[in-house]
Amino acid sequence: MYTSDMYIAILGRQSALGLAELERVYGGVSRFSHESARLEYAPDIQRLGGSLKAGKIVLELPRGDWRAVHTKILQHYEKNWQSVDHKITLGISTYGLRTSGRDIQRTGITLKQQLKKHGTSLRLIPNAEPALNTATAHHNKLGLSPNKVELLVVQGADGAIVVAESTGSQNITALARRDQGRPKRDAFVGMLPPKLAQIITNLAVGPRHSGSNLTILDPFCGTGVILQEAMLLDYDAYGTDLADKMIDFSQVNLEWAQQTLHTQKSFRVTQGDAMTTTWQPPVDAVACESYLGQPFSAPPSPSKLREVRGNCDHIIGLFLRNIGAQLPAGTPLCVAVPAWRAVDSTFTHLPLTNELDSYGYRRIKIQGVSSRELLYYREDQVVARELLVIEKI
Ligand SMILES: C[S@@+](CC[C@H](N)C(=O)[O-])C[C@H]1O[C@@H](n2cnc3c(N)ncnc32)[C@H](O)[C@@H]1O
Repeated sequence: MYTSDMYIAILGRQSALGLAELERVYGGVSRFSHESARLEYAPDIQRLGGSLKAGKIVLELPRGDWRAVHTKILQHYEKNWQSVDHKITLGISTYGLRTSGRDIQRTGITLKQQLKKHGTSLRLIPNAEPALNTATAHHNKLGLSPNKVELLVVQGADGAIVVAESTGSQNITALARRDQGRPKRDAFVGMLPPKLAQIITNLAVGPRHSGSNLTILDPFCGTGVILQEAMLLDYDAYGTDLADKMIDFSQVNLEWAQQTLHTQKSFRVTQGDAMTTTWQPPVDAVACESYLGQPFSAPPSPSKLREVRGNCDHIIGLFLRNIGAQLPAGTPLCVAVPAWRAVDSTFTHLPLTNELDSYGYRRIKIQGVSSRELLYYREDQVVARELLVIEKI
């Protein structure tokens, strides 16, 4: 049993991003396994784009296998639940353990039988896989009330096992609605997933100061995904974009967000070239997906890559200089810039990523993740987004 509470988070597909987001927002975090992190603070899963589930640690085994976990769960929950007077719904998810859905099911059934003797009734969520997916966990409201429990059983890289009681899963229905329900979408400027927009915003803002009224600027706002997510995270949103059409799209989308997603936060969007425009203060943090150059379905030739990379470096470099002259020192930014992936999975980065100090910025230190790991891409994508987490010197 813990004297001070500890938490576990199950990280999303690109786990370095999830880990960096947790560290930047909460601090007190360390990697536990390739897909999980251990935290000193209770994370709010709905505010995070890079974590799938979170839970409070209730049991720990220094090492062991599913058999040992099975015994521990039976002992602990037979004792804890034998005199509860309500029905309990239980799901069990394991991460990093060598076990099967069937084994897990067997533990649940044994516990159900033991509790029945005490008059406690248990409804088990069946496991097709060792871990319940976030949709199943969320639809069953697991972790959201004391009688709907999901156990997250996670084996760390060092062999230690923790059992945590979930405090909620990412609401993928709401995320899908925010993504696909928006009135204006544009395949050409690209579809930034709301989860990534949350990550970018959180990496930019960092620790949240409750009660502070922050304004987040996106100088390449496009259809407004980052601005929308910033408003849902309780920040005022300010967007500019070179294209009038994108300003119209953002305007319509953010009005929709205010009406449909019930955010009270304000927004304003105006046309402006990020290389030359003057923004109206206050700007408390900058979160954006900058110009990414043209999309590629296969790695470009070396000469084409040189051309596109040079062009992006020029535009983003002028943007960084322009905005740098306007921001107070210490203003944090998270800027997604392109990085190109070769067939051997190596990346070509923008030259400016190696010369940030000459542009007037320094990287914000993130302990558990190296800056080159902050990459978001799908397996079929050539143009990855590299997230620069920086501050104005
Ligand atoms: C990759 S998209 C960003 C998409 C955006 N995240 C969204 O939610 O739709 C890049 C955007 O930058 C805009 N853009 C390109 N060059 C620009 C410049 N010099 N100044 C401002 N915006 C620019 C494009 O019009 C486009 O909307």
